[in-house]
Amino acid sequence: MNQQFIFFCVNIGNEKLLKTELACFYPELSLSYSRKGFLTFKNSGVQYSIETISQLQATFATRVGLSLGKCKQSELTEHIRELQKYHELDELNIHCFSVGCEFELSIDDIDNEFDCVINDKGESGDIILNLITLSENEIWYGLHRQDKGITRYANSDPKIIAAIDAPSIGYLKLAQIFELYSLSFKYSDNWLDFGSSPGGASLYLIEHGAKVYGVDTASNQFKHKNYNHIKAAVQDLSQERLPENIHWVHSDLNLKPTQAIKEVLRLCKKYNDTLRGIIFTVQLTNLDYIKELEDFEDIFYDWGFHEIKSVQVPTHKNEYTIIARR
Ligand SMILES: C[S@@+](CC[C@H](N)C(=O)[O-])C[C@H]1O[C@@H](n2cnc3c(N)ncnc32)[C@H](O)[C@@H]1O
Repeated sequence: MNQQFIFFCVNIGNEKLLKTELACFYPELSLSYSRKGFLTFKNSGVQYSIETISQLQATFATRVGLSLGKCKQSELTEHIRELQKYHELDELNIHCFSVGCEFELSIDDIDNEFDCVINDKGESGDIILNLITLSENEIWYGLHRQDKGITRYANSDPKIIAAIDAPSIGYLKLAQIFELYSLSFKYSDNWLDFGSSPGGASLYLIEHGAKVYGVDTASNQFKHKNYNHIKAAVQDLSQERLPENIHWVHSDLNLKPTQAIKEVLRLCKKYNDTLRGIIFTVQLTNLDYIKELEDFEDIFYDWGFHEIKSVQVPTHKNEYTIIARR
C-alpha cells in the first residue's frame, strides 16, 4: 500500500501547538516535513480518504488535507491536469493561498487555464484542491472535502479588516470567530464579557446590536451607552453583583485555563434559564494544557452545553477558543 501523507496548515508561530496536539491525540502520525505555517505528516494508522479526511479534527490546524505532492510554478498546470484526471475531478474547486511568503500565484492564470472556481466557500461535500504556495519553486497540493465542523474559507482566513477605531485585536478575533463558525445572535441580546478591557470584543458585540456588561480588573477605558463596566477580579465576584438576563458570555481572561473556566462557569450558573452560549478563549501559557483539550471541553458538556467546538482563527497566537452552545 502507498504511504499516506497528510498536510496541515497552521498559524505561523503555532507550529509547536499543532505538533503537541497531534503527538497527544494522533500518535499514528509522524512528522515528515515542517516549514513556517505548513507541515506534512506520514500516517501509519487507518488511511483517510478524501471523504473522511475532514473528520481528522486538529484544533490548531487552519486546513487539513491529503497531501499529494509539490512542484514548481512552471510545472503546476501539468500536475493539476494529472491529478484532475486521476481523481476524476470534473469541476475544479481550488483554494489557492500562500503561507509564510510574499509570492502569490496568479489566480487569473489558473482560471484562464482551467475554467475553475477559486477561493470560493463552496458547498458541503465539495472536493477542494488546495494549492499552497511556500515559494515560487515550492507549491504543495492536496485535497480535502468541505464538511461540517471545518471552516469553508481558504486556509480558514475570512480576510476581515478590523474597524480603524477598534481598541484592541480582540475586535478582529471575535469578528473572525463569528464569520468562520457562522455564529449569530439576536439584535439586543445581552452579553457578559469577562476580561473586557480595553474593549475590542465589547465594541464588536455592540456594533452588532448587543448590550454588553464587561468585567475586568482594569478600569473602564471603553465608553458607550450600551456598555456597563464592572471593575472586579472574577474570582472575587459573586453572582449577586452581576446583571439579570444574560444570553451570551464571552471570556478572554489572562488566567490559567482551569481557574478561568471554573470561575466563569460558577458565575454562569445564574443564567441557567437564559444562557444560549459561551465563547471562551483559552490562553496556552503552558504546552501541557494542550493535553487537556478534551478535558476542558468535557467541563462545558457537564455544565449542560451540547454543541462544543475548540477552534483557531488567524489572530490566535498561543491560544484557542472554545465555542459552547446549548
Ligand atoms: C486579553 S485581555 C482581554 C482583551 C479584551 N477582551 C478586548 O477585546 O479588548 C485580558 C484581560 O483580562 C483581564 N484579567 C486578567 N485577570 C483577570 C481577573 N482575574 N479578573 C478579571 N479580569 C482579569 C486583564 O485585565 C485584561 O484586560
